[in-house]
Amino acid sequence: MISFSVAFDPNKGIGYKNVMPWHIKEEFKIFRRNTMFKNIVMGQTTYDNLPGKLKDRYITVVSINPEYKAEGVEVTNDLIAFLKEHENDETEYIICGGASIYRQAYPYAKKAYISFIKKEYEVDTYFDVYDENDWNVVAQEEYDEFIFRELERKQVAE
Ligand SMILES: NC(=O)c1ccc[n+]([C@@H]2O[C@H](COP(=O)([O-])OP(=O)(O)OC[C@H]3O[C@@H](n4cnc5c(N)ncnc54)[C@H](OP(=O)(O)O)[C@@H]3O)[C@@H](O)[C@H]2O)c1
Repeated sequence: MISFSVAFDPNKGIGYKNVMPWHIKEEFKIFRRNTMFKNIVMGQTTYDNLPGKLKDRYITVVSINPEYKAEGVEVTNDLIAFLKEHENDETEYIICGGASIYRQAYPYAKKAYISFIKKEYEVDTYFDVYDENDWNVVAQEEYDEFIFRELERKQVAE
């Protein structure tokens, strides 16, 4: 099963100059809680710009470059083949950005973990494909700076 985890502001902004536009401790804790000991997938740009290494997660980095290597992670050169291979697995693969990876993986995702950041930030990267009409909210937690929601994709009527 494919899911995704993202935080975006009221304009669906997710990034600025290759990093996250905000530093919200509580939000990072939620990300940690949702991804701990799970399979996570991220683009080479996001992975290489992480402020620290993510411990206790099984990380796959996607890069078209066959020479790309990073210590302690799996690398896949074909995101779409990866998504097709795992979309019907019982095991969850959580897409963790960035923009180009979210865009390509969005149609495959059945579940989502989203932090809706309340304040507007200066951004240059967006999660533009997200449409709230695609999702049912199954859980919600309110924090000072964001609302966290767990969502499941609506079934398409036959
Ligand atoms: N707010 C959030 O929750 C959140 C989460 C994550 C990231 N972000 C933000 O998102 C921004 C980065 O997004 P981005 O779109 O620039 O970069 P990205 O999605 O992290 O990575 C892009 C790279 O992924 C590889 N790639 C893309 N499509 C592929 C495919 N079909 N098969 C194999 N590899 C593929 C390519 O790597 P190669 O060039 O090596 O081939 C491409 O350059 C940053 O600002 C980051 O902070 C925000």
